[in-house]
Amino acid sequence: MNLKDKIRIIPDFPEKGIRFKDITTLLKDGEAFRYTIDKLAEEIGNKEFDLIVGPESRGFIIGTPLAYATKKGFVPVRKPGKLPSETIKYEYELEYGSDALEMHKDAIKPGQKVIITDDLLATGGTLLSTVKLIEQLGGEVVGILCLIELTYLNGRELLKGYDVKSLIKYE
Ligand code: PRP
Ligand code: MG
Repeated sequence: MNLKDKIRIIPDFPEKGIRFKDITTLLKDGEAFRYTIDKLAEEIGNKEFDLIVGPESRGFIIGTPLAYATKKGFVPVRKPGKLPSETIKYEYELEYGSDALEMHKDAIKPGQKVIITDDLLATGGTLLSTVKLIEQLGGEVVGILCLIELTYLNGRELLKGYDVKSLIKYE
């Protein structure tokens, strides 16, 4: 199956000049969605790991079915103020201002092996922040899996040293 055919490109969203990769067309296609999750599980192969971590919100859409398929637990990374128990926070710079992500302090035990997943690797900022949260808790990131990679933004460079895989690349 060619997954690129299932993704809709929206020109000039959310800003002029951006060609937004809309995955909702893939998600509503039951066969394509299932194929996507199966492919991501295939990428994991026999790699040993304990947990899947996904950043809000599109990382939940990819991460939870992948956790189910691999019979592992899922840990959400959320935007500030959403998680009810004790959290750790990682703040990162944006072009204008900053943003932050949080994770429950007890979500990962030291030494646990973690796979991170999200729909899109663009600049890599979201995934790097997720890595930082996991490592702050003593977790080990053994893989990063994305549905889409925008190779021209060099997010992979930011994530150097980690095993990054993506199913679809836009150059
Ligand atoms: C999008 C996308 C990735 C991130 C990729 O999320 O789902 O998480 O951007 O960009 P980056 O590599 O430059 O960090 P967004 O922050 O738009 O939020 P959403 O998932 O809640 O839609
Ligand atoms: Mg996202």
